[in-house]
Amino acid sequence: MDALNAIIDTNSKNEVSKRKISFSGKALITVTGGIGVTISLVAVAFVAPAFRRYCLPYVPATTEQIKNVLSILPTKEDTQKISKVLLDIGSGDGRIVFATANKGLTSHGVELNRWLVYYSRLKALKNGIKNAKFFQKDLWKYNISTYDYIVIFGVGQMMSDLEKKLVKEAKDSSKIIACRFPFPNLTPIKIIGTGVDTVWLYEIKRF
Ligand SMILES: C[S@@+](CC[C@H](N)C(=O)[O-])C[C@H]1O[C@@H](n2cnc3c(N)ncnc32)[C@H](O)[C@@H]1O
Repeated sequence: MDALNAIIDTNSKNEVSKRKISFSGKALITVTGGIGVTISLVAVAFVAPAFRRYCLPYVPATTEQIKNVLSILPTKEDTQKISKVLLDIGSGDGRIVFATANKGLTSHGVELNRWLVYYSRLKALKNGIKNAKFFQKDLWKYNISTYDYIVIFGVGQMMSDLEKKLVKEAKDSSKIIACRFPFPNLTPIKIIGTGVDTVWLYEIKRF
């Protein structure tokens, strides 16, 4: 009888221990599942551009490319006298926006990927950069009519349609800076650099 009780006792202890394992298992599934979902949400934001009309992936500008863009812009002294507003189309991690804001321009970035926008906003906040702002929007629906300078580091396939948008919507005398890929029909007023770091400067003239 005692032996039977001992067996029952052992069995019920095993049952409790199984339940405990199953609870920690559930906790582990919840935590790993949560991490998995978060990683997927972040990854989706980076992969999503591949499924749009134009696949414009996140490729950050090189240091040389940024140097070439900056060489076109007015000096810090000039921007202190006359304020100029710049837009980086598809601003990625905000490096062009920050570099140009550092030159005294009011710099905006429009970016589809919310995580890159959060990252850029956090960086601006952390470094107390007040003249840099980021908007989470689709570049094709974004109002570009108020900008003095517009920077684009895009892909070759999108340049023709983007050219049409700029010619139609950008303000008169605004300057467009294209990185790596030129526009098919506009004539550049300046070309700076070579190879993948080449930058083309255009001016929108309507009158
Ligand atoms: C080649 S990267 C350039 C990043 C940044 N301008 C730089 O030079 O470092 C292009 C960026 O455009 C963003 N993008 C893609 N499609 C977009 C869209 N429809 N509207 C706004 N941004 C978009 C991508 O997420 C990516 O960050």
